[in-house]
Amino acid sequence: MKTLSHSISKILKQKSFSQEDICILLSIHDPANYQLLQTKADQIQKQYFQDTLHYRGLIEFSNICIKDCLYCGIRKSNLDFDRYQMSLDEIMDCVKWNHENQYGSITLQAGERQDPEFIELVTTILQRSQKITQGKIGITLSCGEQTKETYEKWFEAGAHRYLLRIETSNSELYQKIHPQDGLHQFEKRVECLQNIRKIGYQLGTGVMIGLPHQTITDLANDILFFKRIGAHMIGMGPYIVHSSTPLAKIANNSVKDIQHRFQLGLNMIAVTRIVLKNVNIAATTALQALDPIGREKGVEAGANILMPITTTKKYRKDYQLYDNKPCIEDTSEQCKRCLMGRVSMVQRKVGFGEQGNSPSYKTEKGNYYDPFLERRNHSTELY
Ligand code: 5AD
Repeated sequence: MKTLSHSISKILKQKSFSQEDICILLSIHDPANYQLLQTKADQIQKQYFQDTLHYRGLIEFSNICIKDCLYCGIRKSNLDFDRYQMSLDEIMDCVKWNHENQYGSITLQAGERQDPEFIELVTTILQRSQKITQGKIGITLSCGEQTKETYEKWFEAGAHRYLLRIETSNSELYQKIHPQDGLHQFEKRVECLQNIRKIGYQLGTGVMIGLPHQTITDLANDILFFKRIGAHMIGMGPYIVHSSTPLAKIANNSVKDIQHRFQLGLNMIAVTRIVLKNVNIAATTALQALDPIGREKGVEAGANILMPITTTKKYRKDYQLYDNKPCIEDTSEQCKRCLMGRVSMVQRKVGFGEQGNSPSYKTEKGNYYDPFLERRNHSTELY
């Protein structure tokens, strides 16, 4: 144990990290060594963000999906629940609620659709959101794989961050957790990430942690992938079984136990913070599904973003990507109160009214770069 602590301390002093170093750090599971890891991650987090966390109010505006991912509760073939599409007015009410409550950014998420009607709906939501908040609200889109033209259209309409998880950077594992129906191709997903970045979005990606057959080396490669693709934000969390999915049948025998997956989730946050440094990292709700204070532990491990659910209450029960999803019985007001308590428990504060853009994006573009400045100056023409 002493020699392990010694080599961990040595790795933590390095400026760059090999795949092997990352594997050693990800394998930590005893409290003393985890403390070393967490202290280092916390120090880097404080260096870039002090004690401030930022919110992304999550609006899950539709659960209709053309994809059939083998792990996901809202996959096309799951007929166990009602499909919904929030009306434009309902969505705009959620956007207003976020703005009035000083949540500086929102994340608009939905099941994947690529039809013209959907593309137009998202475009309208973006334009209206920019208009009613006078261009002040930060907008992350999480609407899956689209053509380059669609990503461009949405960027023009007012989205400036895009979250598309690679799910796993191991292309063989990717194949195992998706159906081979021509709609789920690893190379296509990577191409989407490259397009998103090229267009000028802040690029977000991430993985599920503790998937059946996933190894520590896979997870180390995931972190190296985040770096290589140039991600500005990371959203990742433990894989959680959804009982009415095909992966549940395999997972029940081969998935690591809850405690193990949870610890891996924390390790991934801490090591990503240590390796990538100035990126935004979310403490996701999936952590809380495995541990009642999972998100707080995620923040202590180096995450600086929280994603409170702000979807209208009546729809929440039908957006269950995995079993035991927390917050589905709560209103946005209740989530707000609950989260404030959680934030103060970990001695952090919330940057209310601030967008909380990724420092890595700002560094890349120059601190004063504002992709929307030009557009705002012509805002009367556009809207
Ligand atoms: N467990 C954990 N995360 C899941 N997601 C989908 N299904 C599950 C699950 N069973 C995640 C995927 C997707 C994001 C929106 O939700 O990573 O990209």
